[in-house]
Amino acid sequence: MQIEKTAQNKEWKPMIVAFCCNWCSYAGADLAGSSRLSYPADVKIIRVPCSCRVNPMFILRAFERGADGVIICGCHPGDCHYTTGNYYTRRRMALLFSMLDFIGVENGRTRVEWVSAAEGAKFSATMNEFTAKIRSLGQNVRLGDLRCRN
Ligand code: FES
Repeated sequence: MQIEKTAQNKEWKPMIVAFCCNWCSYAGADLAGSSRLSYPADVKIIRVPCSCRVNPMFILRAFERGADGVIICGCHPGDCHYTTGNYYTRRRMALLFSMLDFIGVENGRTRVEWVSAAEGAKFSATMNEFTAKIRSLGQNVRLGDLRCRN
């Protein structure tokens, strides 16, 4: 079923939302750019002060608005600029992702990754890998609001 869907629409490109914390992951994305490490243009980065700023509603809203995958990137555990922000993220997202899985949004469509400011290569590799995963899963139709589609 998924294969048919992607094969029918050869022009389909996934829309991936990446929430990146300002202090590590966004700087990692910057480093990837300045090191000329490529990652797909399908990834739309949203800079947030800390990964724990990402309210679970942001993720539900992203899926509703047509995102095919959502990734949250933050500082490594113990390195959060706000001391414990990413611990909250880790627990909160574990719950949200299992709830999303329960309602039919595959686990592969969501991910939390720790990327430091010095890990431009990891940022690029993570985005390439995540985009490939979303491409294999196909378009997300589970939570999409049809009014938000073109
Ligand atoms: Fe980066 Fe909190 S500041 S995860």
